[in-house]
Amino acid sequence: MDRQNFYITTPIYYVNDRPHIGHAYTTILADVLARYHRLINVPTWFLTGTDEHGQKVQRAAEAAGMSPQQQADETVVRFQELWRKLEITNDDFIRTTEPRHQEVVRKILQDLYDRDEIYRAEFEGWYCVTCERFYTEKDLVEGHCPEPGCGRPVERITEPNYFFRMSKYQQWLIDYIEANPKFIQPDFRRNETLGFLRKELTDLCISRPKSRMGWGIELPFDADFVTYVWFDALVNYISAAGYLSDEARFEKLWPASYHLIGKDILTTHTVYWPTMLKAMDVPMPETIFAHGWWLVGRDKMSKSAGNVVDPIAMANQYGVDAFRYFLMTEMSLGQDASFTEEAFIRRYNTDLANDLGNMLSRVTKLIGSYFDGKIPVPQELGEGEERLKSTTLKAAEELVTSVDRMRPDQGLNGMAAVVREANRYMEARQPWTLAKADDTRADAGTVLYYAAEALRIVSGMLYPVMPGKMGELRSALGLPGGDPVFADLHEWGRLEPGTPIQKMKILFPRIQAPRETVPVKEKAKPKQKEAPVGVVQIEYADFAKLSLRTARILEAEKVEGADKLLRLQIDLGDEQRQIVAGIAQHYEPDTLIGRSIVVVANLKPARIRKIDSNGMLLAATQGDQLRLVTVDGDMPVGSSVG
Ligand code: MSP
Repeated sequence: MDRQNFYITTPIYYVNDRPHIGHAYTTILADVLARYHRLINVPTWFLTGTDEHGQKVQRAAEAAGMSPQQQADETVVRFQELWRKLEITNDDFIRTTEPRHQEVVRKILQDLYDRDEIYRAEFEGWYCVTCERFYTEKDLVEGHCPEPGCGRPVERITEPNYFFRMSKYQQWLIDYIEANPKFIQPDFRRNETLGFLRKELTDLCISRPKSRMGWGIELPFDADFVTYVWFDALVNYISAAGYLSDEARFEKLWPASYHLIGKDILTTHTVYWPTMLKAMDVPMPETIFAHGWWLVGRDKMSKSAGNVVDPIAMANQYGVDAFRYFLMTEMSLGQDASFTEEAFIRRYNTDLANDLGNMLSRVTKLIGSYFDGKIPVPQELGEGEERLKSTTLKAAEELVTSVDRMRPDQGLNGMAAVVREANRYMEARQPWTLAKADDTRADAGTVLYYAAEALRIVSGMLYPVMPGKMGELRSALGLPGGDPVFADLHEWGRLEPGTPIQKMKILFPRIQAPRETVPVKEKAKPKQKEAPVGVVQIEYADFAKLSLRTARILEAEKVEGADKLLRLQIDLGDEQRQIVAGIAQHYEPDTLIGRSIVVVANLKPARIRKIDSNGMLLAATQGDQLRLVTVDGDMPVGSSVG
């Protein structure tokens, strides 16, 4: 990590909804990387913030009966509070509605317009009034809006707009990406962008007429338009760093070392942003790194699926540090990762409660009982001690390399392995037995010194991930508070014999049994009422696990050899599925085509009579009667029910 300067950014988050685990992940990752760089004394700048303009925010405001600014002001606090709670050490927080940002966006627009990088033209396209979006001919699905869950007719609209001459930078961008392998990471995302650039790049429409969407930064050269939200949002990375306002600071900070992003915003960051910078004559950021998504189990997290994981609830229930540790160890950067509470508890109990926590409590208890609560004096090195020392120092080095290679999960798992090794060392040497006899007590002192040293290094190396708990651990060992000194973490024997250790409570209490899934919102639990006899009551969280959605039946046919079953092909808006339903004795297949039904969309797939069934429809039954559950009135397919 021989950098002069480390400037790291997260995406700026839309203020249309409360933060979830995906937002928490990127911000914690950026925080961990920033803290590692500060630890090694690299001047570090860490930026996060909120994206407050555009249709998403305007819509959320309308739904909440507020002005967009009120919506932004209320939601931004949720993000800021979450970052405080999660011990995020961002150096700046930018909101795109702040004058310091808006002014820079306007200056850039004016300059690009003056230099003919932006031009006005008639824009013609297929427009969906409901989605307020333009589509090209090939975007449409059978002539209708392609938006999942919409599918409405579209209108041909012609309107003037402003365009950025993005297409003229196509070849330059391809050459730049090819000449700079670190520019887009991981490699497969780089290839994805190059693949995208094989098609002809069009110019980018950077305006929205106020008559359609007014919540944005007004174009400095035409008051009838506001700026397209991405052309505004991407600029945050430079406006916050002082571009066109504090050039000295900008010189120092830019180019950014990393833009951390999720895989879904790859094109905007690796095509729009570099071409915008090129047109502005600003150097490129060093690396745009796209991480994968957190799935919940195997499912995409979404409000409609009711499986959104609330980071505040997680941190409240299990502690900020453990939550940070889980996210950092469980995701291999670039790939998707799966969140389940069971996996969380497994990881917590194994690495933190059993291995690290137990080791600390054993070491401090034994030093307390047999060495007057002071770090004992180590004796000669034996083979076991030599191994523990070299394993620990090597793992510390590897953690540094893994952070540099953007694989912190590997380095952290290496640290967990050191703790296991140290526990094995203790088991093999049995200091609790050695300490009892006068002639072997000094050997017990050596073992405890070595174990404590391993803990000192591990806790220092894990400090950026778990600053609270590792701070506690370090003060238990009698180490000074505050950030550890990095050089000390690569040297063995820095614990001073004779230093008093502190008594401490259990660092990571074991979690006994999986509790209910963390609810989306933390709510006061209503008083329990007696359940009517024979009815099992469930928690809201149990209900929230169900994804009930409306669907339309596209095909229906009898399943051969099964007189009760029908095979249905259904449309869920964003996908089509096949389900097998036991309704053949109640409905003729032909009468079902086009009907709206309600299905359990997140039921595990099953094979019924050798046919895959991917979901289950709902029906009311009584004796031998059966009627399908439908929705009262017209709703788009795929709507959530609950
Ligand atoms: N406002 C834009 C970004 C503008 S940056 C100039 C935006 N905001 S967002 O709030 O919708 O998303 C922010 C980030 O959250 C994106 O990087 C996105 O990939 C990430 N995630 C959203 N869901 C996620 C998961 N389930 N898992 C991990 N990250 C996910 O896009």
